[in-house]
Amino acid sequence: MSHEEAIPNEWLNGEGTDLARRLGQGGLVLSPEPGKRKALLRYLFQALRKVNTRVRLVDTHGWHQGAFVMPSGLVLGGSSERIHAVCDGGPALQNECSGSLEGWQEGVARYAVGNPHLAFGICTAFAGPLLDLIRPDGGGGFNLQGFSSKGKSTVLEVAASVWGRPDPLPTWRATGNGLEGIAASRNDGFLVLDELGQVDPKEAGQVAYMLANGSSKARGNRDGGTRPMKKWRLIFLSSGEQGLEDKLAEDGKRAKAGQEVRVPDIPCPEHGMFECAHAFPTMGALAEHLKREARSHYGHAAQAFLLELCQAFSEDFPVRDQLRQREAHWLEGVLQPGFDAQVRRVAGRFALVAVAGDLATRMGILPWPEGEAFSAVRISFQAWFEKRGFSGASEIHRGIESLLAFLDRHGLSRFDLWGEADSKVINRAGTRKRAEGIEGFDYYLTPEGWKEACGGTDPKAVAKACAAKGLLDPGHAGRSAQSVSIPGHGKARCYVIRAIARAQHESIDAA
Ligand SMILES: Nc1ncnc2c1ncn2[C@@H]1O[C@H](COP(=O)(O)OP(=O)(O)OP(=O)(O)O)[C@@H](O)[C@H]1O
Ligand SMILES: [Mg+2]
Repeated sequence: MSHEEAIPNEWLNGEGTDLARRLGQGGLVLSPEPGKRKALLRYLFQALRKVNTRVRLVDTHGWHQGAFVMPSGLVLGGSSERIHAVCDGGPALQNECSGSLEGWQEGVARYAVGNPHLAFGICTAFAGPLLDLIRPDGGGGFNLQGFSSKGKSTVLEVAASVWGRPDPLPTWRATGNGLEGIAASRNDGFLVLDELGQVDPKEAGQVAYMLANGSSKARGNRDGGTRPMKKWRLIFLSSGEQGLEDKLAEDGKRAKAGQEVRVPDIPCPEHGMFECAHAFPTMGALAEHLKREARSHYGHAAQAFLLELCQAFSEDFPVRDQLRQREAHWLEGVLQPGFDAQVRRVAGRFALVAVAGDLATRMGILPWPEGEAFSAVRISFQAWFEKRGFSGASEIHRGIESLLAFLDRHGLSRFDLWGEADSKVINRAGTRKRAEGIEGFDYYLTPEGWKEACGGTDPKAVAKACAAKGLLDPGHAGRSAQSVSIPGHGKARCYVIRAIARAQHESIDAA
């Protein structure tokens, strides 16, 4: 029986130990007599001169020029040179195929028409391979958030079936080293993670950060050196009854703006992930059908998609420009001029998903009408955006919220009344003055009071944003603070929030 084994060039130069070990693992029995290993080396060395085929060994998954190394190590495409993958693998990394592409299209994918949340999930599965082509720093995830038995895991299974066997779904609990290995094997690809609710909040934050940031922790090895870090860039789709933000709040932490940008929460509608049952009697029956079919037909869609992309690679790649144009087109439909960079970054990831679904439709892999992918992703984006509730930077938004809450909480107790300087006020944060023409108080915050009220957000940035919104009375020459003579306190620098400005701000917010 013949075996094929790719050997790194450097192994032919040393003592032949690595070579003998590898061939031994493959079944070669080599006599222990000295000289035998040398003879083997000599033999191979001579044979090499007669063979002019070479293969390139690669030890990472994903794109290698025009070839793609699948999670299982299978290499797709690559016409200019033969590529052989020698990546770490494991049982979790198998991505087998089952059934057929047509079976998947008929039994699974076509039901996403008219079901935008399901369509969005499917589109995310195609987005990873496009990262390298059009959005190298766009890796990260999405979390589908909704109540129990609403079809979240069903959507995850369907999305996972694009790449391989969908059950059992990996969960957030498969954390630590195991997850790092899985993530590395999905480089340029796709990962699903079910059951956010079951993981410890501390861990959830770390995992979200690790997955989206694309590298493992550096660890020491036995020889005192450091093992090379695993690296990846991928798109992941998670689900849970909670949002990631709520999850982190369990630990008494707020989601950092960075985490929100990396893993936006997409709320699923109260009635569930499906809008249209097609010919099924109930949404539940559709969900059960989808799970069953996705477990019979899987793995073909990603391969078909990648093979087409590999092909496009070899033809000087006009595809890249086309994809960028499509991406810009999708973004035009959702972004408005004043939107903050954080919103734009999240929108960019949604755009990648839209373009991926659109491309898979054009390739005939997704049996959907034109425009289905774009509109499905727009609906998911809007669900995220509405839940977020504002178009600015989230830290600043929180800073303003914190400031207003501070005034509500301490407005009476920590601000003495104008004209009645009161040394009994403990921890004075400023002075309040009865507003003219409106009920309530105008607040004059001391710089320390202002800083505290901002609750950890950069006080200068909050002041700037408040001034831009008309909430803060501006000082001279564009300064945020102004110099005011306060009876009993003398002239002092303070930040002024007037009752009228606050009322206007709140009426705009409510609109
Ligand atoms: N939209 C829906 N409307 C009604 N029933 C549904 C819906 N989606 C799923 N189901 C039913 O719930 C079952 C479980 O679906 P699924 O595993 O997708 O739910 P889930 O949202 O992940 O729930 P959990 O949060 O408990 O994990 C399905 O087998 C089906 O019977
Ligand atoms: Mg579930």
